[in-house]
Amino acid sequence: MRKKMIFKFGVTVVVLIAVYLYYVHDVTQDENISLQKEEEDIDLNHEPEKLDGHNDQLGEPDEKDTDRPIHSSHWKNGLHFHVVHLQPLVFHIYAEHELHPMFKQKLDYWPADYKRKFLYYLYNITFPTDNTQEWKKLFKPCASQRLFIPSLLPDVDSLLYVDTDILFLRPLDEIWMFFGKFNSTQLAALAPEHEDKAAGWYNRFARHPYYGELGVNSGVMLMNLTRIRQSTWLDSLMKYYKEYKLKITWGDQDLINIYFHFNPDKLYLYPCEWNYRPDHCMYMSVCKDIDLNGVSVLHGNRRVMQNDKQPAFKAVYTAFKEHNFSSSIDEDLLKNLKKLLSKTSNTPCGQIGPLVYTKHIEEFVMLEKNLLS
Ligand SMILES: *[C@@H]1O[C@H](CO)[C@@H](O)[C@H](O)[C@H]1NC(C)=O
Ligand SMILES: *[C@@H]1O[C@H](CO)[C@@H](O)[C@H](O)[C@H]1NC(C)=O
Ligand SMILES: *[C@@H]1O[C@H](CO)[C@@H](O)[C@H](O)[C@H]1NC(C)=O
Ligand SMILES: *[C@@H]1O[C@H](CO)[C@@H](O)[C@H](O)[C@H]1NC(C)=O
Ligand SMILES: *[C@@H]1O[C@H](CO)[C@@H](O)[C@H](O)[C@H]1NC(C)=O
Repeated sequence: MRKKMIFKFGVTVVVLIAVYLYYVHDVTQDENISLQKEEEDIDLNHEPEKLDGHNDQLGEPDEKDTDRPIHSSHWKNGLHFHVVHLQPLVFHIYAEHELHPMFKQKLDYWPADYKRKFLYYLYNITFPTDNTQEWKKLFKPCASQRLFIPSLLPDVDSLLYVDTDILFLRPLDEIWMFFGKFNSTQLAALAPEHEDKAAGWYNRFARHPYYGELGVNSGVMLMNLTRIRQSTWLDSLMKYYKEYKLKITWGDQDLINIYFHFNPDKLYLYPCEWNYRPDHCMYMSVCKDIDLNGVSVLHGNRRVMQNDKQPAFKAVYTAFKEHNFSSSIDEDLLKNLKKLLSKTSNTPCGQIGPLVYTKHIEEFVMLEKNLLS
């Protein structure tokens, strides 16, 4: 019962193959971190949109905070457990059945205090029960999972869908706040695929309709599933697929672009800092947003988190991966991140300067220090 309630009302995040597992390598046994609140304190009836009020919560630590850890070790993989006590964080992980034991094993490394703060569900790659055979014929199994999520998770109101190669450099609830900015017709939020017409893919190569001038990237997608279910989403996608299937290159992302081309009033477009990719810096810096704001969500597509094509992306990934639960953000993560980034200053995405990658983490550290002083 309890689980069901949390499932229904929780902040929900979809991860096709959970990214955060990569960073949980060497969790030490000496975890003595006490988080702000016990699970019993979670307000299950808390409406998602109330999350907007999080700033107030951050500003005034509650009375139970006396035994809060000096170092914010409860900040892991960019997930900001600070605010999680407002409501439970729910991960829905879609992965091939063979991968499930690996997920379980990795997640079981998390110290109990952390595990109490979130729930996760593992699913097989699944197709809608209506027209299952038809959908299976139309798509490659894994790539298109996000299109079906509204019907696969009928109890979930809203979620943030992320690809497997995403790192949050900023508290998760800050991207969630965009839901509060939706007008009455918007049902999803995405960032543009490109910023620059000279290098854009859709405007130069696409042979099908796409959203706006440069298309959208589908790797970081806020979805109001309630609204999507009330729309003609799946039927429209099927229709567009039949019409454009021979012209589609990037699978489901192209379909999403076609959908929002014909339904532009349904999309909220957020700026590139929320889906920052190598394309934004590999030739020149085209995401002007980050000069001021820093990168909020890092998307290492084309495997740049692991390969050596964009060392700055790999540096951020490596710093998170090497970070321990028990060590401090300031002394450990931030220091290591700066060290790793300094070696990338002569690469296209590194020469923008380390600050764009460290800005929000530094702000987090400052906030922590102020709260404690
Ligand atoms: C937690 O801290 C106490 C002392 O405050 C210590 O006795 C105990 O061993 C620690 N627990 C672990 C798992 O290290
Ligand atoms: C997932 O699929 C496997 C077979 O591939 C099956 O044995 C297992 O029961 C399924 N799990 C769920 C949760 O449906
Ligand atoms: C999603 O849309 C529904 C219907 O308009 C609304 O009731 C709900 O509050 C929205 N969810 C979020 C997180 O904004
Ligand atoms: C919501 O915003 C979108 C994008 O700006 C716009 O196209 C649409 O008309 C707006 N809907 C309403 C009801 O104002
Ligand atoms: C993480 O902890 C292990 C063991 O305590 C240690 O060897 C390693 O250096 C730590 N990592 C960092 C980045 O400090």
